[in-house]
Amino acid sequence: MAKIILTGDRPTGRLHIGHYVGSLRRRVELQNSGEFDKIFIMIADAQALTDNYDNPEKVRQNIIEVAMDYMSAGLDPAKSNILIQSQISELTELTFFYMNLVTVQRLQRNPTVKQEIQLRGFSDSTDGNDNKAGIPTGFFCYPISQAADITAFKATTVPVGDDQEPMIEQTREIVRKFNSIYGPTLVEPEALLPSNDACRRLPGTDGKAKMSKSLGNCIYLADSEEDVRKKIMGMYTDPLHVQVSDPGHIEGNCVFTYLDAFCTDADFAEFWPDYANLDELKAHYQRGGLGDMKVKKFLNSVIQKELAPIRARRAELEKDIPYVYEVLRKGSDAAREVAAQTLSEVKRAMRINYFDKDVLEALLKEQSEKYR
Ligand code: TRP
Repeated sequence: MAKIILTGDRPTGRLHIGHYVGSLRRRVELQNSGEFDKIFIMIADAQALTDNYDNPEKVRQNIIEVAMDYMSAGLDPAKSNILIQSQISELTELTFFYMNLVTVQRLQRNPTVKQEIQLRGFSDSTDGNDNKAGIPTGFFCYPISQAADITAFKATTVPVGDDQEPMIEQTREIVRKFNSIYGPTLVEPEALLPSNDACRRLPGTDGKAKMSKSLGNCIYLADSEEDVRKKIMGMYTDPLHVQVSDPGHIEGNCVFTYLDAFCTDADFAEFWPDYANLDELKAHYQRGGLGDMKVKKFLNSVIQKELAPIRARRAELEKDIPYVYEVLRKGSDAAREVAAQTLSEVKRAMRINYFDKDVLEALLKEQSEKYR
């Protein structure tokens, strides 16, 4: 069976290093491994609109930002199809058919949807005092649309951050249900999750649970060298580590979490040969006698090294915006062809392909017997 990747992001802001270690870096590695027959990377504008329906301009402006973040991080349009979700109308058709296979109760149990409902302040109460906000139906159903995204391309592998795992699980359920009712048609995908805890959930620079635009605690892929340095130097560390000689704590110390996500032994050889690896550095910090400043400087070297080529590629892309839109147009055109093929298979399986030549002939024959 062909090995196919589909994944994507909502264009609601520039991508930050949380996106990078959570999924983007992995996608680039998978792309360059040559192990996959096809790769589709989706800018999920239609999904972004499910909870930004009142701010279409934000979504519209961020499509190009996310596209440039992708390409500067190493996604190569010659190897990966970058597409815009709303331009593939077949996806909305698939979504409508899949909706029959999912209950409201099952959607309500999706932990990511639950959490987002809370975060966005949508009320799920029908109680008289508390029903001002309500949950937009389109938003509530976005896991089903995500199943359409994945199955339209017959994806086998979906590299995503942790929070997306419930979506893949729901997709698998939809695939099994569809295939059992209508016959084998769709492919069950696997999620490919981040390999370590730091990458799963990179905290913000303030030590808060998650890097998030609304908290203002992000390091963006497109940040300048100076901005990155300032953000790292101002990072939250260990409040109990007051004097250099005090023993330091690693847990919840985001400088070390970032090192877990970014640094390799080669970085020590290059920037800090006093230590062979991160374990040695951590041991010294925990013993006491190692200042935060030194660790932050090292982290800055490591992150700058990773971001410098990304920044340079972005500067080039920013000079040629028409080229970026051309990539998106071509990627969307190629994706549409694939999705159209799947949709026609879905319609055939559901027997709603009345006007296919052989089907129409059979229908006419049936009806002529009935109405003889
Ligand atoms: N839900 C993803 C996000 O929040 C974006 C997305 C849309 C996606 N469709 C997808 C991810 C299909 C993986 C597969 O960023």
